[in-house]
Amino acid sequence: MDRLTITQPDDWHLHLRDGDRLISVIADTAARFGRAVVMPNLKPPVVSVAMALAYRERILAARPAGSGFDPLMTLYLTADTTPAQIQQVAATPEIIGVKLYPAGATTNSEAGVTSLDALAPVFEAMAEHAVPLLIHGESIDPADDVFDREARFVDGALTRLRARHGALKIVLEHITTADAVAWVNETGPLTAATITAHHLLLNRNAIFNGGLRPHHYCLPVLKRERHREALVQAATSAANTGKFFLGTDSAPHSIAAKHSACGCAGIYTAHAAIELYAEVFEDAGALDRLEAFASFHGPAFYGLPRNRATLTLVREPWTVPDTLSFGDELLVPLRAGERVRWRV
Ligand code: NCD
Ligand code: ZN
Repeated sequence: MDRLTITQPDDWHLHLRDGDRLISVIADTAARFGRAVVMPNLKPPVVSVAMALAYRERILAARPAGSGFDPLMTLYLTADTTPAQIQQVAATPEIIGVKLYPAGATTNSEAGVTSLDALAPVFEAMAEHAVPLLIHGESIDPADDVFDREARFVDGALTRLRARHGALKIVLEHITTADAVAWVNETGPLTAATITAHHLLLNRNAIFNGGLRPHHYCLPVLKRERHREALVQAATSAANTGKFFLGTDSAPHSIAAKHSACGCAGIYTAHAAIELYAEVFEDAGALDRLEAFASFHGPAFYGLPRNRATLTLVREPWTVPDTLSFGDELLVPLRAGERVRWRV
């Protein structure tokens, strides 16, 4: 197959940043996806409905001319979030869910949550009003090995949360382990997960290939090969009837922020997102299942209609630029200087 037309896909986990950086990156996403779930980890974080709606207006204004790209906004959960705010979120169709960052787990998560128990009334309100909880699933105990943090979180805090709030809709974001795949599969229809292109394509060797590779550093960090294989299986197999769907976690950082003694976590993939997923599905012999993963399962879980437009991929290799502009700086995209097999 050299040509594949699918229903226009959506990106269920994306970082768009703000200001002139937003203007630099948004066209890549808008050229491929009908909608994207926009993460709220700005500085300061997007903690109120008013902030989310104002951010949405900035995103709409930054779209390329004629683009119908529809940003689905999220609220950043903190210890100060209230059940009344959840009611407001439920009454605001532009906001699709609430994002839980364990405090300190990743980029701009300092304002995140330290105690899930204290937020029980908020989770109850979310269950009552059918507001989904989007979770960065990593433990924040500094004693936990960085490669084990997802499995620790899934086994511990997440299992307790799921047991205590059975009616809460949960999306475990950017899963990276066989443990997370198994947990999502075992855990009822109100639990789903997003999977990134980079976690499907790369294992942790990519971080250390011939030297330290900052552009392969993200959180949750890449894992060993058996975990990558479990993710590919979860995404591409016929058994994926809806629990696993596309979320790029494309997370741009400037070259200066990556080439540093304390480099930022995040991989930029928006420039070739659906093309990279197509490689994964092709290699798994499952190109015919790309559309369900990219365009059907996400809207079904979130209770939204599928996109009506289509997107066509052709097998026409192209070389990714070495750098892309990022505000008044540059970023290095995934596969910089290397080939991508499919083109939109
Ligand atoms: C994200 C970012 O840079 O905002 N970084 C990342 O490595 N994925 C934050 C996140 O989603 O963890
Ligand atoms: Zn993210």
